Amino acid sequence: MLSIPQYRQAITDYLHEKVQVKEPVNLYEPMVYILEQGGKRLRPVLVLMATEIFECDYKKALDAALAIEIFHNFSLVHDDIMDDAPIRRGKETVHEKWDLNTGILSGDAMLINAYQLFESYEGDTFKDLSKLFTRTAIQVCEGQQYDIDFETRDNVSIDDYLLMIEYKTAVLVGASLQMGAIVAGTSQECRDAIYQYGRLLGIAFQLQDDYLDAFGDPETFGKQAGGDIIENKKTFLYLKTLELANRSEALQLEHLYSINPPDNSGKIEAVKALFESCGAAELTKKEIENYTRIAFEVLDKIEISEKKKEPLRNFGKMLMERQV
Ligand code: IPE
Ligand code: IPE
Ligand code: MG
Ligand code: MG
Ligand code: MG
Repeated sequence: MLSIPQYRQAITDYLHEKVQVKEPVNLYEPMVYILEQGGKRLRPVLVLMATEIFECDYKKALDAALAIEIFHNFSLVHDDIMDDAPIRRGKETVHEKWDLNTGILSGDAMLINAYQLFESYEGDTFKDLSKLFTRTAIQVCEGQQYDIDFETRDNVSIDDYLLMIEYKTAVLVGASLQMGAIVAGTSQECRDAIYQYGRLLGIAFQLQDDYLDAFGDPETFGKQAGGDIIENKKTFLYLKTLELANRSEALQLEHLYSINPPDNSGKIEAVKALFESCGAAELTKKEIENYTRIAFEVLDKIEISEKKKEPLRNFGKMLMERQV
């Protein structure tokens, strides 16, 4: 097995080979722009790791890994339009640097490009990868729609939120691992188990993303500080605060989430103070640990050697400690 940085390098090299600017440049430049910014490349690394854990050469999974990364970046370009986000990975978002139409169309082309990469597989591998990808992509759309719906819905429960993040984020993490298992031709049992591991880690990952959106360092996190608060996102932080708050605190939070001042810094600070004073910030960290622990329990039961599990467990630990 390679190390995480080595897998990341393999993906970057393959990306350079496969994705280049061509005519019409206004379609391809934004694609290269977002893909070259890098990001953590977590999902394609998971595809390659899973392939090797199930005893197959990671090179066979490079197309699937790149497909997942391009799909992820497509979802970010459209997500930034939907969330009105100015900054991603410390740089201007595509629709800010170019315009809305460019963000829509280059995003569409990336989605199609992702599908195209599966053409290099044959037979059952092709069929299984395509089916998984299609199901996952539609779930991501469903999750994204819930996310937007929740901004203006006032009866969102924690269970609603958990289902929403499962769809918009966690299923893609599960699918990344399962793709490696498919390329390696493992049993259905192993495919399902590794998917569950990814899904649970993915839930922890989105909880952490929400936490860092409010409490992370915008310099390292690379996104607008308090972006979710500005957009009135019904995150775990928000929903838990409402649950734990007394009546006056709850009214205060609801009021803050109903206003849209030209300078948002006061709103962000006031909301964050409530997230902390009501104990929701601490509870979110606990919840991240809980989901990671349950993920590790699932991993323990998978029938692969302890030695093979080690990199997957380390990956989960690394996610929990991340600040980016
Ligand atoms: C951002 O994903 C979108 C979420 C699902 C939270 P990442 O945090 O993996 O983004 P990059 O690719 O590393 O920038
Ligand atoms: C993103 O959720 C999920 C998808 C892109 C599908 P967020 O909206 O929280 O992601 P960031 O914080 O903008 O990266
Ligand atoms: Mg967003
Ligand atoms: Mg979003
Ligand atoms: Mg976020």
